[in-house]
Amino acid sequence: MEKLRVGFIGVGGIAGLHHLGYRDNPRTALYAICDVDEQQLRRRSDEWGIEKTYTDYRQLLADPNVDAVEVLTPHHLHCQLGVAAMEAGKHVSMQKPMAVTAAECDALIEAARRTGRVFRVFENFMYYPPMRRAKELLDSGAIGEPLSIRIKVVQGSMGPGWQVPFRRWGWRFDPAQSGHGRVIFDYGYHFFNIARWFLGEVEKTYAWITYRPIRRELAERGIGFTRGVDHVVGGRVAPVDEAAIAGGNDVPEEWLIDSPAVAIWKYRDAEKYGSLEVNTSYDLLVRSRYTPEDEWVEVTGRRGFIWVNRCTSMLLDRPPVVMYRDGITTEFSDMETDWAASFVAGVQDFVDAVLEGRQPPLTGEEGKAVFQFCRAVQLSAREGREVRLAEIC
Ligand SMILES: NC(=O)c1ccc[n+]([C@@H]2O[C@H](COP(=O)([O-])OP(=O)(O)OC[C@H]3O[C@@H](n4cnc5c(N)ncnc54)[C@H](O)[C@@H]3O)[C@@H](O)[C@H]2O)c1
Repeated sequence: MEKLRVGFIGVGGIAGLHHLGYRDNPRTALYAICDVDEQQLRRRSDEWGIEKTYTDYRQLLADPNVDAVEVLTPHHLHCQLGVAAMEAGKHVSMQKPMAVTAAECDALIEAARRTGRVFRVFENFMYYPPMRRAKELLDSGAIGEPLSIRIKVVQGSMGPGWQVPFRRWGWRFDPAQSGHGRVIFDYGYHFFNIARWFLGEVEKTYAWITYRPIRRELAERGIGFTRGVDHVVGGRVAPVDEAAIAGGNDVPEEWLIDSPAVAIWKYRDAEKYGSLEVNTSYDLLVRSRYTPEDEWVEVTGRRGFIWVNRCTSMLLDRPPVVMYRDGITTEFSDMETDWAASFVAGVQDFVDAVLEGRQPPLTGEEGKAVFQFCRAVQLSAREGREVRLAEIC
């Protein structure tokens, strides 16, 4: 096979960034797309010039011209679609989080083993150039043996970022579709993966999470959904969807944001520790082309420190990567910093891996380990105790 022909299942918001990886790419072509929302399907097929469209994923999977699929749907469908795709002989790139239960993660791992197809979970932060530079520095021993990691996450209000349609938030706050936890499970999959990728396997965690009813907070501030949701869940609502919001400007009673949150953890094989702090603030403006969220990371090593100062957005006006060692501070700015670059690189790695017959990250087992980390943090906060990741099975 010289050129990988790919089908997207789900062509909502994030599919736009995946598509960037297929434009003018000599090694792959986006051949077919599928979505149950016919309007969205038509919009994407016009925008991207894709002729093969399906409203039923089973038809896309039956198409012999499709070599591989990207699953870009709500989380509760990930396992079902991924297993069906591998059984139909397709290689699979699965958007994070891998699935919503440990049993589903196991089913995906087993399907990959049984069918011999390439299966990877796509977590884009690990393809973000500043994160990769930090990882290269760490692996080269630049700051000596790594000892600890601190991850800071903020959600604020908008700069000129994305307009996010109501329908995209709707499923994210429905535990049955999202697997529960907009911040710690959905968004959190990224930072728990980075924590693991940088320093290794995690043994146990302790966490605190505050669940805040979004509707009450908006009412207290006298702001309606279409303005207020920017602040509460990190993303603007597209005006076109205002009419679709039931009851005017209200969000459903049961929508909760799982922030602020703090988690600490211990790595498995050494006295190494990590911590995460998440805050969501109405009053914080985040300069962003995407959702008004940003993340920064500090790794401490025996000889120094590495900081990654941005990821999703451009909140801080600082070099993307800084290193301190032996009394000298070095700034690294010679890299792409737009978050979209992580999607392009992530797509490319999947395509290259399939064509070259190698396994790209995250393997099913790695994807499950990140899943267990997210769930262990949630369980610890719920039960007020230390949780070992091995309990999540
Ligand atoms: N890497 C990131 O930073 C990032 C950011 C956003 C979303 N995501 C992930 O991408 C995935 C999709 O998120 P999104 O923001 O694009 O959501 P979205 O709601 O914008 O899009 C999901 C699309 O899936 C379609 N869909 C639902 N059921 C379907 C089915 N049975 N068959 C085909 N299509 C179906 C919907 O109609 C919708 O168009 C999720 O797994 C999410 O976690 C990742």
